[in-house]
Amino acid sequence: MLFQKPIIAINLKTYQQGLGENAVTIAKAIEEINPNNNAKYTAILCPQAIDIRLVCSQTKIPVFAQHGDAYDFGRNTGCVLIKSLKQAGIKGLIINHNEHKLLLSTIEKTIKLAREEKLYSICCADTVDQAKAISCFNPDYVAVEPPELIGTDISIAKKDPKIIKEIIKKINFINPVVRVLIGAGIKTRKDIDVCIEFGANGVLLASGVVCSKKISDVLFDFFA
Ligand code: G3P
Repeated sequence: MLFQKPIIAINLKTYQQGLGENAVTIAKAIEEINPNNNAKYTAILCPQAIDIRLVCSQTKIPVFAQHGDAYDFGRNTGCVLIKSLKQAGIKGLIINHNEHKLLLSTIEKTIKLAREEKLYSICCADTVDQAKAISCFNPDYVAVEPPELIGTDISIAKKDPKIIKEIIKKINFINPVVRVLIGAGIKTRKDIDVCIEFGANGVLLASGVVCSKKISDVLFDFFA
């Protein structure tokens, strides 16, 4: 069953501030501010693969992987299997992030395996056209992230929120049930509220939390 409320997916990327015990600290801070994920927005945390088991063992926050390889157990040296990530405790995964791009055929295969494994999929796209193509593979969420805004302080919500409605309309014309997330440059609760107001089902963000000097203040702003 899909998350009922809009989601805030926090991607820790490979930032050192989100590594190891830091990931657990962030997860626990979210739980303290937003016990049982009861707030207006559902929190999802995407730690590095190496920290997934640790975060899942110490908190109840839904954990997504930042990437997963759609192979079966066996001879795949160096790969991080979706099946192994599931055993470590993930509820879903990001697919085709701008910083970990996949071939279209691999995206399709990965979404399919995620579904078979009963995991949620957040599939990223740089452009609306790419999002439309990916939507045909039926991910649970498609996240539109203009690459030039990633890591900046300027989100679509700030730049031109009306575009959000157009993006969603174009994607839902192709696939009326896929949920649309907006990502890149999202820093404030205002950014998030605007995305939701203009029809998004949530946001995908990273630096706004993990690079913040006061992570708990940002989390409070998002979830209190
Ligand atoms: O995965 C989230 C992302 O790429 C956006 O990053 O730092 O702009 O929130 P950021």
